[in-house]
Amino acid sequence: MEFILYEQKGNVGIITLNRPKALNALNSVVLKELGQTFDAVDMETVRAVIITGAGEKSFVAGADIGEMSALTKSMGEEFGKVGNDVFRKIELFPIPVIAAINGFALGGGCELAMSCDIRLCSDNAVFGQPETGLGITPGFGGTQRLARIVGVGKAKELIYTCSNIKADEALRVGLVNAVYPLGELMEAAEKMAGKIARNAPIAVRASKQAINEGLQTDMDSALVIEEKLFGNCFETEDQKEGMKAFLEKRKVDKYLNR
Ligand code: CAA
Repeated sequence: MEFILYEQKGNVGIITLNRPKALNALNSVVLKELGQTFDAVDMETVRAVIITGAGEKSFVAGADIGEMSALTKSMGEEFGKVGNDVFRKIELFPIPVIAAINGFALGGGCELAMSCDIRLCSDNAVFGQPETGLGITPGFGGTQRLARIVGVGKAKELIYTCSNIKADEALRVGLVNAVYPLGELMEAAEKMAGKIARNAPIAVRASKQAINEGLQTDMDSALVIEEKLFGNCFETEDQKEGMKAFLEKRKVDKYLNR
């Protein structure tokens, strides 16, 4: 891979977007490699994935403006679809994905972070959707996910004004879960991923599926989705072991993912 680094540490997969000279901007190659990296994650052993950016300044400074500058209408639509497909793959990835946002998360960078399950950022992080200042709309899900995460009013303000917000404001509006000093961000992300990895994998996956699918529908249908996934857990060995361990007043040594 030219622009993506992948490492597995125990049960945690760590993806680093590695194009620091362009502040990890997303060109077609980065997007293609990002999708391929997710396709190659070992689903037998990896329980959570972390995405971060190379360097100490930027998570992702957006889609590549140089590449976009020459696009026609149909090519623009196609480029949007490429980004949307990869980010949707991340959103629907069966196991949790944590964004460790280590600096600029602008345009496509903010959109990438929003496709992840959980967002942790460093205290130097900056978020924004600068697209209307470039003559375009947010194109990798920003018009949809930002409103769902921070509410319609705040999303419209950020998108119409192109105002950037810093880490403390991102925390206040619920765009990120927590803020850490830059030097502690990856440790915090790995610690959270490790905590996820210790729980029953099938139950964690089913929880993600229930939340994602439930949010797409009305409450009654959503609760049926939950009931089915809840019921499925009772067929697993991990449920038997988890409850047996509780009743025997001991900790589960290791969930088996079955
Ligand atoms: N695309 C392409 N190259 C980019 C880039 C981007 N989005 N962001 C930064 N770079 C490049 C710069 O061109 C520069 O390259 P050179 O050294 O070859 O000139 C290098 O990264 C370093 O950037 P700066 O010198 O500008 O660094 P800075 O610290 O002065 O500024 C910044 C940092 C404020 C993030 C600034 O780079 C910036 O404003 N970048 C663009 C941010 C942006 O508008 N993002 C949205 C893109 S549109 C989008 O994402 C559409 C969508 O929804 C899909």
